[in-house]
Parts: sequence; C-alpha cells; structure tokens
Amino acid sequence: MSARVTVGMVGLGGWGKNLLRNFGALPGSDLRWCCDADEATRAAYTPAHPGARFTESYDELLADPDLQAIVLATPVPTHFELARRAILAGKHVMVEKPMTWTAAEARELRDLVSGSGLVLMVDHLLRFHPGVDKLRELIDTGELGDVRYVYGNRLNLGRIRPDENVLWSLGVHDISVVLHLIDSEPVEVWARGECYVQPGVEDVAFAYVRFASGQVGHLHLSWLDPHKMRKMTVIGSRKMAVFDDMEPDRKVTVYDKGDWQTPAGRISTHTGDIWIPWIDTREPLAIACSHFLEAVAGDSAPRTDVDEGLRVVEVLEAMQTSLERGGETISLGAAAR
Ligand SMILES: NC(=O)c1ccc[n+]([C@@H]2O[C@H](COP(=O)([O-])OP(=O)(O)OC[C@H]3O[C@@H](n4cnc5c(N)ncnc54)[C@H](O)[C@@H]3O)[C@@H](O)[C@H]2O)c1
Repeated sequence: MSARVTVGMVGLGGWGKNLLRNFGALPGSDLRWCCDADEATRAAYTPAHPGARFTESYDELLADPDLQAIVLATPVPTHFELARRAILAGKHVMVEKPMTWTAAEARELRDLVSGSGLVLMVDHLLRFHPGVDKLRELIDTGELGDVRYVYGNRLNLGRIRPDENVLWSLGVHDISVVLHLIDSEPVEVWARGECYVQPGVEDVAFAYVRFASGQVGHLHLSWLDPHKMRKMTVIGSRKMAVFDDMEPDRKVTVYDKGDWQTPAGRISTHTGDIWIPWIDTREPLAIACSHFLEAVAGDSAPRTDVDEGLRVVEVLEAMQTSLERGGETISLGAAAR
C-alpha cells in the first residue's frame, strides 16, 4: 500500500473542483480516481490530472481494492447513499456538508461506521478556519469571560439553489461553528424564512438556537442582500470578538467592551482597547483536506466526525420543521440518539 492515501473524488462541480485542486496537490494524497456523472465536466479536468482515471461509474471506485478514501462533493440528496455504499465497500469517506438530508440517515451512517475502523468526516469547512480556532482559543483562555451569546451573518447576492434552501446551504456553516463555540447541548430552536425568488425555497432565514446553559446562537442567512457578509460575533461577559472572513488581514478583532458593576453597585459599560490577533492564512479547505488524509493515515477520528455531522443535521432538521410551521419553537430531544 502507498504511503500516501489513495483518493477518489466524486462530483467535480462548482465546489468539487476546489477539493480536486487540493487532493490533486497535497503531498499526502495519491489521486487515483475522478468520478462525475457529466461527461463535459470530466473532460474539463482530465488534462490537469493525468495520473487519475476518470469515470462516470461510481461502482468502479468501489471495486478498486487499492482505493482507500472517497471524497463526495455531489448534491446533498446523494450524500447518504453514496457514503453508505462507500462504507460498505470498506472506504474512508469525506463528505461535503450537510452530511445528509435527514437525521435518520445521519444516524444510519453513524451506526454503520462505528466500530468499522473507517473514517467518516464531514466537511464543515469553518471548523478548519484559523479564525474560528482563534475564537475558540479566546474562549478557552478566558479572555472573553463567559460566552453569553453568539450570532452569525452569512449574506450575499449569491447562488440561488433550486433544491436546498438558504438554511441547509449556508446555515450549516454557522450551526457547526455555534455548536463548537458553546459548550452545552442545544435544547430548542426556531426559524423563520421567506421565499422571495422561488416558491418553497427560502432565500432569507432568521434562526435561533438555545442551549441547556441558557446561552443562545442566532443566524441571519440570505442570498438576497447587497452586502457580502461572513461574520460570527461572540459576546462574552468580559470582552467581545468578531470573526470576519471578508477581511483580508484582520479576520478576528477583539473588543474590550462590556458591562461592569461600579463600587456603588451601579451597572455601567466600559470601552477599552481593540486588538487584532495574528491568524494563520492557510486556505481552510487545504487544512480540512490534510486533516482528512491524516485521520485516514493515522486511523484517528477527525475533528468533524460522524457525530458532529449528526448534531448539525439534527439542528438543521429541527430548524426546517420550525420554518415549515411558521417559526414554532421546536425542542431537540436526546431520545432519538
Ligand atoms: N464547504 C463549502 O463551503 C461548500 C460550498 C459549496 C458547495 N458545497 C457542497 O458541495 C456539494 C456539491 O455542491 P456543488 O455546488 O459543487 O454542486 P454542483 O451541482 O455544482 O456539482 C455537483 C457535481 O456532482 C455531479 N454528480 C451528481 N450526482 C452524481 C453522482 N451520483 N455520481 C457522480 N457525479 C455526480 C454533477 O454532475 C456535478 O458535476 C454539496 O453538498 C454542497 O452543499 C460546499
């Protein structure tokens, strides 16, 4: 067996081409297969990857005994079945977000992969962003005090998808970060959204998740906005921090702002220094792909494993139910796990 991990890419579309670029170049990767249902798409990438075999047949990848890992960048409704078949064929899997369409499917994948020795990693890209690592570090070191609430803004005049709504397409990123930053179990959610462009596909959504600790996360998601915003704000009891992915060289800003009690017992506010910590500038997707290769090579659980994929899909599914019921509050029960 090669010291490098043998990789098969499936889905070479809008996002898959970025994964292909990484798995075609990373030193730990030996790109063996490229699979896409569309002939023109396959033809477009063949010259750049002479060492890989191009095919429309997923079965060819599953049947290759030398292929260790499959990377899935196909549309969301295909994730479950393609991942399930890969695991049954003994392949490690990296699957694009969201891991599955339903929590029931996610649980089935978890049950299938558990004890198999296989890696199932979901590409929750922001979990590999050094800016998000910095937010987590600021929380862990106590710099921000107690986290009170976290909110995300993910807005753009962006690609309007015909199948996924803005919650499943964009919200999945923020949910993975909010769950990572708040050390408590989510207990209830609500979401409201509007379908301005296509009937039945929300292009704008506002969503809320409340944790057992009383901490809260809020998301504003939209494909219909003049601003391109990729922001996550953490409000702590001592300081506040903003991760802004649109900023080229000040991804995280820490504000020494907050409330305090005066000796006379009055509540006052205070504004102090603003500082910008250094952040690693590596591409988060390259970090994610390397992490997957390391997990496969080392037989270790990845940072965004099947349990994390399930947690995120559970929150998404509950938010979707709330959207469909006009913003009703939905409890997240632990019973189904
Ligand atoms: N992590 C991120 O930031 C990010 C960004 C965009 C998209 N995505 C995710 O990437 C995935 C793909 O999205 P996209 O925008 O690239 O979609 P896309 O429609 O542009 O590309 C999908 C590709 O998959 C191919 N395909 C579909 N079914 C197939 C099958 N059964 N076998 C082989 N090929 C098949 C299609 O021919 C197409 O080339 C989705 O899960 C999406 O949510 C992630």
